[in-house]
Amino acid sequence: MDELKAKKIPSDKTEELLRRQEAARRPDGGEKAKAQRSRGKLLARERLDLLLDQDSFEETDLLVESRSEAFGDGRKPPAGDGVIAGFGRINGRPVCVYSQDFTVMGGSLGLAHAEKICKVMDLALAAGCPVIGICDSGGARIQEGVEALGGYAEIFERNVRASGVIPQISAILGPCAGGAVYSPALTDFVFMVEGISHMFITGPDVVKQATGEEPEFESLGGAKLHSEKSGVCHFTAGSEQDCFRQIRELLDFLPQNAREIPKPPISSDNPRRESALLDAIAASDPRKPYSIREVIRAIVDGRQFLEIQAAFAKNIVVGFARLNGQAIGVVANNSEHLSGALDIDASEKAGRFVRFCDAFNIPLLTLVDVPGYWPGLDQERRGIIRRGAKLLYAYCEASVPRVTVILKKAYGGAYDVMNSRHIRGDMSFAWPSAEIAVMGPAAAVEITHRRELKAAADPKKLRAKLTEDYIRDFASPYHAASRGYVDEVIEARLTRPKLIRAFQFLRTKRTDAIPRKHGNMPL
Ligand code: HXC
Repeated sequence: MDELKAKKIPSDKTEELLRRQEAARRPDGGEKAKAQRSRGKLLARERLDLLLDQDSFEETDLLVESRSEAFGDGRKPPAGDGVIAGFGRINGRPVCVYSQDFTVMGGSLGLAHAEKICKVMDLALAAGCPVIGICDSGGARIQEGVEALGGYAEIFERNVRASGVIPQISAILGPCAGGAVYSPALTDFVFMVEGISHMFITGPDVVKQATGEEPEFESLGGAKLHSEKSGVCHFTAGSEQDCFRQIRELLDFLPQNAREIPKPPISSDNPRRESALLDAIAASDPRKPYSIREVIRAIVDGRQFLEIQAAFAKNIVVGFARLNGQAIGVVANNSEHLSGALDIDASEKAGRFVRFCDAFNIPLLTLVDVPGYWPGLDQERRGIIRRGAKLLYAYCEASVPRVTVILKKAYGGAYDVMNSRHIRGDMSFAWPSAEIAVMGPAAAVEITHRRELKAAADPKKLRAKLTEDYIRDFASPYHAASRGYVDEVIEARLTRPKLIRAFQFLRTKRTDAIPRKHGNMPL
């Protein structure tokens, strides 16, 4: 102790350090902070306090300054250059973070600002931990010109390098405009908060000049638009606090990096638990929609399901859950929307989710009730052929354990796509209510018996008989079971225990990578 005292840095030096730190931590005299609050937004440091475990934040580059010569006397951005960066913990596990400070030149990104972000991204890659960016920025700092643009490009390049190696999360808590939107777009999950988050390629003024349209901030790039229509946003929150809670919840399901195989926590839910609700759903009228979320909750641990992009492409439901403690990704058709048919948005939403799970070794559960691809001019014109192929591609290349349960309909190409055995799904179960066929009974009978029906004395009676025959021969799980395309027809109530055993068995699954640089996914 005495020795330490003897070595203590002279107090004036320490004071200088503290003074510099203090000035860098409070770059704005108060007015800008007030303005930030008046917009209903928290300050950059407050955000990190709410996101990270208490007292876990370690800051990097607090004293970094802009080297740009573009600013006149006294106009140079303060130390820190408008972004707070460093590492800390969430739920006890390390993460790297950065938080843009709108009170410093509108959070705009200059070169030093970009270098700070790049540094924590490099640290996250080196340590193998998630990186979370809090974006609140007017974009490229106009005064720094091409250096700012170059800074963005270096962030984008790191986003791509980190893709599939460490989880990357973006929280948009203010404006995010122009090319700046492409860093969040390259990350795995985008969070937005109603009323304060806006993302667009060009702001309302430029849109007006270019197209004559006069959009508001909200309709052009608000949380509602991006969560319901564009699919850019994965999670929407009512407040910043709720947003940080959701990020922490999401991270709980994810490994730290693609190499980590986390030890599943002990589940408090009974692995043998049966569900009468599932039997009731299996027995219900196949034309009547039901809640697929209730099905998922009945199967997984503690009824806990973290849904992703819940308001976008509602005909497919994706999200994370646990089975006997092990995190899994769930993909399920939703009969309550478009009868659960696959369309462009559903294929892209589920395709990206499947690829995320595959990259991070999260096993996939697929629950099938799909009448086919959604037909029509609109879908064909917008490219359902190439865009619908994305989900097929994603499943085919996924090497994580993949288990399917066919609940009801599995018709046509959509049967193949939804993780069928034929595309190397590892195990396939079917409920007794499963109908696995090229198409539904009504359409099939019309096509295959058109002439007989036309000539029949009583076409109604003949149609009923043919439909009954078709249902017996094709619209059941038994033809598929007789060929080994489903491994087992199970009582619906037993779905949870069956899946737990299947995924436990598949924990040691290994596949060899195909010797190629990479495939050519239909983008
Ligand atoms: C420098 C900027 C800035 C920028 C805002 N500020 N954006 N300074 N470069 N890009 C400054 C303002 O001058 C102002 O400084 C302070 O930040 C707050 O901005 P306000 O306009 O007063 O705030 P507000 O009314 O809330 O509007 C916020 C805003 C608006 C919507 C973000 O500032 C805006 O439209 N900014 C430009 C957005 C944009 O088009 N950026 C370029 C995108 S292109 P004072 O000193 O007055 O407080 C891009 C390319 C990326 O980013 C390329 C990647 C390849």
